[in-house]
Amino acid sequence: MFLGLDFGTSSVKALLVDGDQRILGSASMPLTVSSGAPGQSEQDPEAWWQALLDAVDVLKAAHSRELAAVLGIGLCGQMHGAVLLDTAGQVLRPCILWNDTRAVAECRELTAAFPALEAVTGNLAMPGFTAPKLLWIRRHEPAIFARTAKVLLPKAWIRYRLTGEMIEDMSDASGTLWLDVGARDWSDAALAATGLSREAMPRLVEGTAPAGRLAPDLAARWGMTSPPLLAGGAGDNAAGAVGLAAIRPGSAFLSLGTSGVLWATTDRFAPYPAAAIHAFCHAVPGTWHQMGVTLSAAASLAWWSKLSACSEAVLLAEIATPRAPSPAWFLPYLFGERTPINDGTVRGAFAGLSHQTTRADLTQAVLEGVGYSFRDCLDALARSGTRIREADVIGGGSRSRLWIQILAAVLDIPLHRLADGEHGGAFGAARLARIAVTGEEPSLVCTPPARIETLSPDPELAAAYARQIGRYRKLGPAIRDALA
Ligand code: XUL
Repeated sequence: MFLGLDFGTSSVKALLVDGDQRILGSASMPLTVSSGAPGQSEQDPEAWWQALLDAVDVLKAAHSRELAAVLGIGLCGQMHGAVLLDTAGQVLRPCILWNDTRAVAECRELTAAFPALEAVTGNLAMPGFTAPKLLWIRRHEPAIFARTAKVLLPKAWIRYRLTGEMIEDMSDASGTLWLDVGARDWSDAALAATGLSREAMPRLVEGTAPAGRLAPDLAARWGMTSPPLLAGGAGDNAAGAVGLAAIRPGSAFLSLGTSGVLWATTDRFAPYPAAAIHAFCHAVPGTWHQMGVTLSAAASLAWWSKLSACSEAVLLAEIATPRAPSPAWFLPYLFGERTPINDGTVRGAFAGLSHQTTRADLTQAVLEGVGYSFRDCLDALARSGTRIREADVIGGGSRSRLWIQILAAVLDIPLHRLADGEHGGAFGAARLARIAVTGEEPSLVCTPPARIETLSPDPELAAAYARQIGRYRKLGPAIRDALA
């Protein structure tokens, strides 16, 4: 029996998977994000911890025998966040999250201080990544910076609470801008450019490697016969890839979570910072990946649902299967954007409104706007030499068949719906736990999931969206320039 724990931005999920890779039970606890100022996004690590305890308690109530038999635990979750600890291991301030864009100036500063940044880390300095956040803290909260002894990503902090050990996996470490991604090791030069050294970093392991053992008191609380082993685990997207068997070069998927990700597995370190493509290690040894990332995917629909005081289910039910693009436009830049523009200051918009515009038009515009931002990622990956011809879809947004249909037409590629698409990350984390415990070959464990159906692009709709994408690309800069 294996336990996958996924620390998302909007919830913590716990998933029990048996030796035949069947999902036996799951529990999920919601999380909230606090935003002190536009562009700021923080969470209290204690809230993750409480949500984890609650989720596992729910699992225990329904599946105590299975939970007792857990041999391995896999962690995955939101990437890039900075949890700062003092010398006693105490958290110094709330975690600044992956979608926080306050550190725009610090990105310029970091690039100037370390010109080899892109070559070594494979990535542009983006405000969501961890290193610029530390420069922001150094400038704006110097007393906190001075007391910072360790910097952990969200799941490394959770591991610290679960096991007492500070260990991070390669895929998550890639999102810090402190990793030499080609060499799979911390870069002393990148750390020095932020005023830090290796001392402040956790130990590195591969995602499939053993990485700590559950503390005896927690094992007793959860009724486990002996304390399970933890695997290195993965960033949420790499864990999703493991769950989908996207471990061979050329495999691709689309994640429609709070953020949106278009992923391609590569057999080598393949940076393309010119279009803000992310080039990271995979959670499987000897493999890497590229990603295009849009910051507000399912988060855009959640925002529109909150604003219109109407549930997502009701909003989606108001739209018929589209025959033509919405007359309205939506730019999903609620937190700025990463791929391809790396602009933390650009903001979202509705456009093209009239007295005839309905709520359904605006909902459709939101789904399409997120689609156009995925199209930007697809085209940026193509410019880097990576052509995605089909993709599986995971993430909370993948529950909507309609949204996948729209995305297939905007991207003009077939998209596959999966039976358990929403569990993507936690399922991959459970697989990593199994590999760490059994030492099995990843390719034997990572079999492809069941597909419910393939949604091929509707040719007329795809042609209509192809005409729209040029207009979408003009709107972003126009709005940014008008509001600058
Ligand atoms: C990836 C990224 C997001 C977060 C969200 O670079 O920032 O996908 O991991 O969970």
